[in-house]
Amino acid sequence: MTAATNFSRGTDLRAALPLGWGFHHATYQPGHGLRLNGRPYAGTTRRLADMLRPPGGPYFLDVPALHQAVRTGDNPVMYDAYRDILPQRPACTDAEIGEGWSADLVIYPAGVLATGEPIRSTGHWNGANQLEIFQTLAGRNLMIVSGWRPDGSRYLYQHTSGPGDLVVVPFGAWHLTYVLDAPTAVFNIYADRLRPARGPSSRAAGKDSQFKYGRRDPLRIAMRNRDGGLCLEGPDLTPWGRPQPCDGIPHWLSHNLGPEKSLCELYITRSVGLLEQLMTAADTAWKNQDWPFG
Ligand SMILES: [Fe+2]
Repeated sequence: MTAATNFSRGTDLRAALPLGWGFHHATYQPGHGLRLNGRPYAGTTRRLADMLRPPGGPYFLDVPALHQAVRTGDNPVMYDAYRDILPQRPACTDAEIGEGWSADLVIYPAGVLATGEPIRSTGHWNGANQLEIFQTLAGRNLMIVSGWRPDGSRYLYQHTSGPGDLVVVPFGAWHLTYVLDAPTAVFNIYADRLRPARGPSSRAAGKDSQFKYGRRDPLRIAMRNRDGGLCLEGPDLTPWGRPQPCDGIPHWLSHNLGPEKSLCELYITRSVGLLEQLMTAADTAWKNQDWPFG
């Protein structure tokens, strides 16, 4: 892929993001945000204090310690989220299909919370019909993905991703991202396989943080630095077990990636019909339990 291998580090971070046609210049600078073709692109900055606000707060290992940290001025930026970073890819006119595909970009800075947790996403459950695919453009991160297969069995995976690596989050799964090597830029695309019978679409839910983060209690698993190493902790490790390492992507996705293995490229250049075929293939493989693996 034409990944952001020229993603330079430093306090004045500037990134060239491979966003495809029309985006010749994409730069990011902490505190100033993203600029596309020289113009600022509006994003949402989420700080620690935003995450600690109920309801729908994420699971942290020590919430009182984090509140205390915020009171003393330790309120770091957790991430900058840029929704609809690329134009939406509409669905065909079939009313049963959802709203089509959308694309976001999230940039995580470096940092460690007072409790030893690295900078992280909020963590949330996707909608039951939502398929989401991530590709790390720069940096390195660890994503925890869990949920239930169609036969009711549980899965819990951890994916470590560097530039170019992809992670697929199955329908209805929970996912949480930790930054291992910052700054980390993660591009993602998502769509619903069906228009939800009740409640908002995944796209609408993404604009309603109370719904998005509060639709279900978070998985109580978190990671922190302990004795010089990162380890996962939390009460849900008992019923769910230790996460299995996973670094593969399902065949229905690898089969449709171009030679550059770019998710951006797939999103931008494939026909609406082919994107629907991708969703159908994912849905079929899911129902056949060909993925998630194991
Ligand atoms: Fe999600």
